[in-house]
Amino acid sequence: MGTWSIRVELEVETGGKRQVRKEDRSPSNTSNPDYDRTSELKAFDDTKAGVKGLVDAGITEVPRVFHQPPYKIQKTSVSGDAHFSIPVIDLEGVKKDPITRKDMVDKVGKASRKWGFFQVINHGIPVSILEEMKDGVRRFYEQDLEVKKQYYTRDYTKPLVYNSNFDLYTGLAVNWRDTFLSLMAPNPPKMEDLPALCRDIMVEYSKQVQNLGNLLLELLSEALGLKPDHLKDMDCGRGLAMLCHYYPACPQPELALGTSKHADNGFVTVLLQDHIGGLQVLHEDKWIDVPPTPGALVINVGDLLQLISNDTFISVEHRVLANSVGPRVSVACFFSTNIMPDSRLYGPIKELLSEENPPKYRETTVRDYVLFSNGRGLDVDGTSPLLHFRL
Ligand code: OGA
Ligand code: NI
Repeated sequence: MGTWSIRVELEVETGGKRQVRKEDRSPSNTSNPDYDRTSELKAFDDTKAGVKGLVDAGITEVPRVFHQPPYKIQKTSVSGDAHFSIPVIDLEGVKKDPITRKDMVDKVGKASRKWGFFQVINHGIPVSILEEMKDGVRRFYEQDLEVKKQYYTRDYTKPLVYNSNFDLYTGLAVNWRDTFLSLMAPNPPKMEDLPALCRDIMVEYSKQVQNLGNLLLELLSEALGLKPDHLKDMDCGRGLAMLCHYYPACPQPELALGTSKHADNGFVTVLLQDHIGGLQVLHEDKWIDVPPTPGALVINVGDLLQLISNDTFISVEHRVLANSVGPRVSVACFFSTNIMPDSRLYGPIKELLSEENPPKYRETTVRDYVLFSNGRGLDVDGTSPLLHFRL
């Protein structure tokens, strides 16, 4: 086989002191201290039943491969403090009244500079569609295992990919989460390739999210001082990757995470979350709760928008805590063509550059950026993949 190797730096606590331990996790390393871990991961993967399968089997303790270093779950989160809450932007009337629209451009711009995150209400997607989307995701995970297993794969060229933890073998700890995903645009999958229990709503919801995405791209373009169509004309709204997550109830939520700290690698993300909560954003070094708000959608700037805006907008790290009352369901729609081959290059937008604001990044294709970002797994060394593209 090849000669690739995996070296990781683990932060471990011994006698109350945090230390960094280097490990060689290459497959060729016969003294690999994680040999057992690798076979535990493989056994888990082979069940094709995900984390839900463990819970259904009645486990009462979280297996070791899911254990996070304690400092990664620390409880210092802030909620209910107005100074530390994600902005909520009301999009009512955005298409009718130029004064309202100007106000929204300001709010979207401010939120994208300062937080990288905001929620939108009156966004035009009917509540019934949001509810049906969450129900569809639940139906997929809760269906007969033998049917669901047919979709279990790590081959991302498949039209529908269901598995648990895309970075299962490279991440430092497994997340308490299962996921299925599909690239819904620009080339929608064939209807028969989508799961029968949720295909209609996946198609309907992705159309609605694309409309909302186009509106957001207009507001973001204007907030950058560009023509409304600028980001759309750069094809930032062309691809839509839909990730449907399922976070089963966790018997020891203080030991695991639902999703480790990461930033999203597309242009913009539209996230639908249910009523359970657990999503947190890292702001001024504090974890801030993103409270579930009925009917609202969470919007965040992704790495590629930070790159093309030359750091005007920020792609902010976030995570999901494990919960004891789940299942929690969420749907993350990334505006991105993901790993689809596409030669278009993205770099800092020329119109934004000047002598005082020189380009901070080199150009990349979406595919190269996503492959680099996903190749590292979530929160493996604590740094942003954007650094790799910095000039
Ligand atoms: C993601 C993500 C948050 C959630 O898919 O990138 O951050 O609430 N999801 O599931
Ligand atoms: Ni995310």
